[in-house]
Order: sequence, then structure tokens, then C-alpha cells
Amino acid sequence: MNKTALITGATSGLGYDFVGMFAQDGFDLVLVARNQAKMEEIKSQYPHLNVTIITKDLSMPNAAKEVYEEVKSAGITIDTLVNNAGFGLMGNFDDLDIQKQSEMIQLNNTALTELTYYFLPEMKGSSHKARILNVASTAAFQPGPMMAVYYATKAYVLSFSEALAEELAGTNVTVTTLCPGATKTNFASVANVAKTKMFSGAMSSHEVAKQGYQALMAGKRVVITGGTNKVGAYAAKFLPRSLAAKIAKYVAQEA
Ligand SMILES: NC(=O)c1ccc[n+]([C@@H]2O[C@H](COP(=O)([O-])OP(=O)(O)OC[C@H]3O[C@@H](n4cnc5c(N)ncnc54)[C@H](OP(=O)(O)O)[C@@H]3O)[C@@H](O)[C@H]2O)c1
Repeated sequence: MNKTALITGATSGLGYDFVGMFAQDGFDLVLVARNQAKMEEIKSQYPHLNVTIITKDLSMPNAAKEVYEEVKSAGITIDTLVNNAGFGLMGNFDDLDIQKQSEMIQLNNTALTELTYYFLPEMKGSSHKARILNVASTAAFQPGPMMAVYYATKAYVLSFSEALAEELAGTNVTVTTLCPGATKTNFASVANVAKTKMFSGAMSSHEVAKQGYQALMAGKRVVITGGTNKVGAYAAKFLPRSLAAKIAKYVAQEA
């Protein structure tokens, strides 16, 4: 029997590239996103695999539980959970729509946390290796003026995932956190950051996903993609938080 990977945000960017990597390694797939037509198209590319589509807006309350229940009623066991779906928004906190910012927290944090909670027991109960990949960002390492809520959601993802990795040390379950810097996906147009300094020199989605996938398979805890991003994340540990925030504000300006 093939192993099964559940990937949120499978229709675009990193999630789309993860799908290709799991498929190449013979995983069956559960795809979760809102764009059903795109997921049908992806499914048609892999006729030799069992591909299950769950059309779900993960920014809605209880969405994670509904996904879990659909997976269970289909009789599927998840070996690898990829919490990838997420979005950002650029602008002063008080200028941005509060409803959209709350949806961001619900998607980037609540859905990720709840999906992990629901699928973890069966992963721990498995006699095989089980893996969780949570997509954070280099935004996790410092406060981010002009994207205050987004940066905070990613700090949460990193902290939660590192803590869980330690709780699960010595078990069959590993937790890997992927921290990409700017990456060429739909993220920049959704977040309205394409013209900013932070997006000059963005990495390819395939390269970032490949590094995440390899780290996941190796059971690494944290992977930061790209040399410059690694240096930036390292430097942020030693800078005063107020200075790190000023730098983040600077790179959020138009290039
Ligand atoms: N690209 C970057 O520069 C960058 C840098 C650091 C971290 N990241 C993180 O990488 C992850 C993947 O983003 P990406 O760069 O690949 O962006 P993307 O191309 O915009 O892909 C986002 C994916 O999330 C799904 N999604 C968005 N809202 C959703 C919702 N409410 N419910 C369910 N699915 C939803 C989208 O599918 P549907 O539209 O079909 O729902 C899409 O498949 C995100 O967590 C992001 O924060 C990105």
C-alpha cells in the first residue's frame, strides 16, 4: 500500500511543487485548497496514484475538523501532513481589513494547529515513520512592520513546530519547519509585495520546495532556504528587536 501525504495549498506555488515531489516518490495524495478545478487538473496528471480532493476554505472556523472527518470517512490514513497553505498582507495594521487579518490567523495558525492535532494520534500510532512539514517563513525571526500580523503568524508557526518536534523526540513522528525567504509564487501578488525590496532576488518555488522536501525526508527540524536568508535569520538572533524591526520595515518599501 502506498503512503499518503496530505498537502494544504496544493493548487499553487510551493504546495504545487510539493505535490510533484510526493507523486514522484509514489505517495498517494490528499489535496486541500479552495480551487477545485485546479485540483481536478492536478489529479488528472497522476492517474497511477490515488488522489483525493478536498475543496475547503481553511480560513473558516472548524475547517480543519471537517477535512479530518472527510479523510476518515474516505478510509485514508495520513503518513505525511504538509501544512503549507497561507497568505500575507502588506500595509499598516490599522489600514488593513480586520476580517482579512483574522482570516490570515485562522489559516496560517489555527488550521495548521488543528490539522496537526487531529492527525497526530494516528501518526503516533503508526508502525511507520510519520512526518509533519509546517511552512513558516524567514518572517518568523523578527517583527515585521507593514506586515505585522503575517510576521507574527509565522513566528507562531516556528515556535509551535519546534516545541512539538521536541515533544515528539524519540517517537516515529518528525516535525520539520520550512522557513523560506521571498519565493516566486502567487504569494507576492496576493500580499501586494511584488515591488518591494524584499522581493528582489526571490528564489524559485521549485528550489525552495525541494529543500523543504529533502529536509522533511531527513527529519530535520528547521530549514531556512538560501544563503542570504540564512545569514539574515542568524543576524536577527543577535540584533536588538527594535533594529531588526527597522530593517524589516526598510525591505518592505518599494525597490
Ligand atoms: N512565496 C513566498 O515568498 C513565501 C515566503 C515565505 C513563506 N511563504 C509561505 O509559503 C506558503 C505557501 O505559499 P506560496 O508562496 O506557495 O503562495 P501561493 O502561490 O499564493 O499559494 C498559496 C496556496 O494556499 C492556498 N490557500 C490560500 N488561502 C486558502 C484558504 N483560505 N483555504 C485553503 N487554501 C488556501 C491557495 O489555494 P487556493 O487559492 O486554491 O485556495 C494556494 O494553493 C504560505 O504559508 C506562505 O506564507 C511564502
